[in-house]
Amino acid sequence: MLPPGPRFAPLQTYRYVTRPADYLAELRVRYGDVVLMPSLNGPVAIVFTPELAKTVFSTPPDHYDPFGTDAIGPLVGAASLFTTSGAAHRRGRKLLSPPFNGARMRAYGGAIQDVAAGVLSKVHAGDDIRVLDLTTEISVEIILRTVFGVADERSVTRGRQLLTGVLDSLSPALFFTKRLQTPLFPPYRRFRRAFRAYNDFVADTLVDRRRGDGAGEDVLSLLLGARDEEGNGLADAEIQSHLLTLLVAGHETTSIVLAWAIHELMSHPDALAALREEVAGLGPDPSPEALTNLPYIDAVVKETQRRRTIVTDVIRKLVKPLEIGGFRIPPGLGVAVGVVAIHNDPDLFPEPHQFRPERFLNGGHGPSEHMPFGGGHRRCIGAAFSDYESRIVLATLMPSLDLEPRGPVEVPVRRNVTMGPKFGVRAWVAAKR
Ligand code: HEM
Repeated sequence: MLPPGPRFAPLQTYRYVTRPADYLAELRVRYGDVVLMPSLNGPVAIVFTPELAKTVFSTPPDHYDPFGTDAIGPLVGAASLFTTSGAAHRRGRKLLSPPFNGARMRAYGGAIQDVAAGVLSKVHAGDDIRVLDLTTEISVEIILRTVFGVADERSVTRGRQLLTGVLDSLSPALFFTKRLQTPLFPPYRRFRRAFRAYNDFVADTLVDRRRGDGAGEDVLSLLLGARDEEGNGLADAEIQSHLLTLLVAGHETTSIVLAWAIHELMSHPDALAALREEVAGLGPDPSPEALTNLPYIDAVVKETQRRRTIVTDVIRKLVKPLEIGGFRIPPGLGVAVGVVAIHNDPDLFPEPHQFRPERFLNGGHGPSEHMPFGGGHRRCIGAAFSDYESRIVLATLMPSLDLEPRGPVEVPVRRNVTMGPKFGVRAWVAAKR
């Protein structure tokens, strides 16, 4: 038996794309904890409780393929983690994960602190700012260093322009509908133009790197050094696909979470004061490592990820049947976890629309209640890194800036797979300490 749900895929897709949080909450109220949602990419069974989420994430990987690859595949390339499954997916994760965890990740602490301090030095009392521009500048530079290993001013500037060009030219329409990926559609032409310029940058970086010693700790060095059992290296197209995946997945997500966190902190003076007191307790010039071990900042990041869920749901495509919540979902259908609905469930998070970092102090909520990074065999490989970066950046910026909200009230809008602040969090710098 299939779960209940609404009809007419174009309308449901439109509602899901434009207002996912309200739409998913409404589906749950109308149809229950498992709902069959028709979409232009095919029907998806979506679940809304932590227990059912646990079932989705603990089901063996060979039950699943990635979802929506027809549309995403041509944008990110054939080797991407977004489009591969089985052995190729496992191999890709093994290659790409190490720099985003453990000692390799911590080696970037000083660089993250320097990049944040550099951006802070350009902000002055009396400025009107768009916080998302600042956090984007920080996250792009950090991605360029960790993924491409570029640190010289000229390459960072060129890389930043080209990356931002590609990411800005992606539009939700291209991500969700393959049919629009045609030169007749102007956004697709813009994307192709930006993508060609970005590919030239990657090709130049590959040539430079092959000429040099290539022994850095960045992802590109790892990809260039990777060999299969026969001793063959990766093809350039494969390297480009991995790099683009990391950029699409890693840059916009962290910059949006940071912008939302700053938005919440400037609207909640008690939370800002608690954060400042915690950082001040470390004395002058705290090490990046010390900044990442502060429980209140950690709680601010977690509560922002909950309150402003930026990836509203995570989806897989079934290749074997799945029994879930009393239903049997056949192969070929999608199965999804409605993360944003769980994050806003008042039984789990009382008064869910309030920003309360305290929820996450002293243990807080487990991984099937708080899941901004998804779960199971496709859980975000940048989760630890993103949290690490967010804590250092907030601890560097927020003790120094007194900000006041400017412009219209912020609301989340879709940017590709993510939801971000519509106006980019506009603020006035009342004082700089
Ligand atoms: C706040 C920041 C971030 C959020 C909220 C986020 C969220 C997510 C989510 C929800 C998924 C899908 C997980 C699933 O299907 O279960 C994902 C996948 C992924 N993320 Fe992140 N992410 C963030 C930052 C990053 C960073 C910094 C990187 C790397 C530089 C990254 C790289 C990836 C990759 C490569 C995947 C695909 C994993 C796979 O399919 O195996 N993400 N992310």
